[in-house]
Amino acid sequence: MTVVHRVLPPEPIETLADYVKTGGGKGLSAAREADPDAVIADLTASGLRGRGGAGFPTGVKWRTVRDNRSPVEPSAVVVNGAEGEPGTFKDRTILRLNPFHVLEGALIAAHVVGADEVIVGVKRSFEPEVARLRAAIAELVAEGWTDSVRVTVFEGPGEYLYGEETALLEVLDGRHPFPRIAPPYRRGVEEVVEHTDDVTSESGLSAHVEMAGPGGDMVAPPTLVDNVETLANVPRIVARGAAWFRTEGTDESPGTIVCTVTGAVRRPGVAELQMGTPLREVIETVAGGPRRDRQIKAVLPGVSNTVIGAELLDTPVSYEALAAVGSGLGSAGFIVLDDAVDMTAVAAGASRFLAVESCGQCTPCKQDGLQIADRLARLSRSVGDEHDLEVVETRVLTVADEARCFLANQHQLVVSSILQRFGDEVRAHASRRADPAEPELVAELVDVANGDATVDARHRDKQPDWSYDDVDSGKSPADRFADHRAE
Ligand SMILES: Cc1cc2nc3c(=O)[nH]c(=O)nc-3n(C[C@H](O)[C@H](O)[C@H](O)COP(=O)(O)O)c2cc1C
Ligand code: SF4
Repeated sequence: MTVVHRVLPPEPIETLADYVKTGGGKGLSAAREADPDAVIADLTASGLRGRGGAGFPTGVKWRTVRDNRSPVEPSAVVVNGAEGEPGTFKDRTILRLNPFHVLEGALIAAHVVGADEVIVGVKRSFEPEVARLRAAIAELVAEGWTDSVRVTVFEGPGEYLYGEETALLEVLDGRHPFPRIAPPYRRGVEEVVEHTDDVTSESGLSAHVEMAGPGGDMVAPPTLVDNVETLANVPRIVARGAAWFRTEGTDESPGTIVCTVTGAVRRPGVAELQMGTPLREVIETVAGGPRRDRQIKAVLPGVSNTVIGAELLDTPVSYEALAAVGSGLGSAGFIVLDDAVDMTAVAAGASRFLAVESCGQCTPCKQDGLQIADRLARLSRSVGDEHDLEVVETRVLTVADEARCFLANQHQLVVSSILQRFGDEVRAHASRRADPAEPELVAELVDVANGDATVDARHRDKQPDWSYDDVDSGKSPADRFADHRAE
């Protein structure tokens, strides 16, 4: 299987002039000459699905934002570049290699949904990406591409929740990254107006709503939030058409997918492949396969879905095929685990990451989450016993109760799937038959380059209250920053 170069060019595109030589700008010109409804129809026909994790149909989202635009105030387009899913480095790689594609996609979106502003939300720590974005925006402005649209870069906090759509909108309004219950396409809480529709999904999860339905008194303008990779796909769909987009991929997951492969592999990396490529081939092509003389035991698709067992390595990498085996594509970050890896240590590491990153607005997510992480760490280090395992098994049933975002469900999915699939290993720790193992470091990637991946080791020092103090205050982030709490 060879790599594809739709959104990840083989070499960095340094200037706008170079971008134009590769066909850049054709999508924006075509969109500005076309009826916005025709652009949305093309996007819908292309079958493009959001690459931020949930796979929501992009055309449907644009349609809803356009249909709900305010008669008095323009909308805004927010580019979600807050990438922080453990094992994922695709958005940062796209921004490093070609920020023009993403910005052109965002300008097309602004034209279509009637926005006068594009905000690219990245983390303060993403220095190379911020520099590339600012330089690219300056060129686009100088060459008149931005027209009357104001394009800015917003440098936000390092928290994992900053990438969650409603929390990102909170941060843009000057508050902390606490997910909120409100239609996620709106900007700040005070901009939310009385709404006649039920804005929660059947599951009651605000972050799962993706797009609330139309209706109500639409004075406040809606905001379109799309992931970096999603927007990078847009210019060529507009320039070349939906049928072209569908020449790669599957019926339900058309196009390509930028995969990150790290963990127990020969050379961790990021590459673009067509949707539907079997997971085994993704691991071979992107990362050279498992380490020498080792067997793959499992693959963790970030910390947002269930663990994938080795017998499922031939599963196609697509939304539908990974869902059919009980897992999910997420943001296509695959952490490979081999027969040298202790699965209790993996569970303890993933659980610690999610428990620490939980904001604590929902008590079970934080309290059960911390108990699960703590007990798994004790088990992993072989200082725990059957009682610790019982606590994990019990708390994992309630951790997602009344959760207002998907993080708590992620905790449940990851831990319960490891317990289910690798229960013997965990039980061996509970009865002290297994060698002690330190919890694995599961955290954001800070770099993937030259066949190497660096995981954020500072996360080991991050406290559940989101400080880096020697001692945790015992308060949840929601209580520490109570003045800024989202309603
Ligand atoms: C805990 C959590 C973290 C998330 N982090 C990111 C992120 O870093 N980048 C991103 O694009 N989407 C992230 N998402 C998904 C967003 O909420 C949202 O679905 C996405 O921005 C929509 O864009 P898309 O339709 O283009 O995928 C996260 C979701 C959750 C629940
Ligand atoms: S406590 Fe957990 S589920 Fe609730 S909003 Fe915070 S991260 Fe999401």
